[in-house]
Amino acid sequence: MEYDGLKIVLCVSGSVAAYKSVYLGRELLRRGAEIRVAMTKNSTKFITPLTFRAALSAPVVVDQFENPADFNMQHISWSRWADIVLVAPATANIIAKAAAGIADDFISTIILATETPVLFVPAMNKAMLKNPATQRNIKTAEELGYYVMQTESGNLACGEEGEGRFPKISAIVEYVESLIAEKKNSRVKNS
Ligand SMILES: Cc1cc2nc3c(=O)[nH]c(=O)nc-3n(C[C@H](O)[C@H](O)[C@H](O)COP(=O)(O)O)c2cc1C
Repeated sequence: MEYDGLKIVLCVSGSVAAYKSVYLGRELLRRGAEIRVAMTKNSTKFITPLTFRAALSAPVVVDQFENPADFNMQHISWSRWADIVLVAPATANIIAKAAAGIADDFISTIILATETPVLFVPAMNKAMLKNPATQRNIKTAEELGYYVMQTESGNLACGEEGEGRFPKISAIVEYVESLIAEKKNSRVKNS
């Protein structure tokens, strides 16, 4: 499926899988999506904003208070611009914040401000994922209307084996396609 100008805010949080979102972004671009990148401060320890700027030719924002001269409430303008907010990789932390309605950085504020579908693609250690707090947060996020992808099982970056791997790019793209189709259907139903 071609994305035909689909506007995606790609939100990157502080997981060791952060570099994979560059490949994800490139695949989405290849399919015709337009991309803007929002990063948590912690994600910049794993990969730099420059990598996304250079590899995706996309605007990148980490700190919405960084350029007060251009101040235009970017959390609102970006959340209105987006057809889909794609949080990939999604840390246990960002899912917990979304479940609690916390908006203390650019990404969590976009998530709270947007009216468009939000898809979390988690990646984390198996014990973090299995922790009842994370499981409760995922359930709450889903009850709030957010979409949360299943992780994959296999070798984890921490050296352990189990659930928590960032899903394959093809699986994420497929999920995004199902959201586009759902959005189109609801538009047809509402017209
Ligand atoms: C090397 C390293 C790898 C990490 N990988 C993950 C991860 O894959 N998933 C996760 O939820 N947290 C991971 N963390 C912990 C998060 O970076 C930490 O919870 C951080 O506060 C998340 O911040 P953010 O959600 O604002 O980006 C990792 C930490 C380190 C030091």
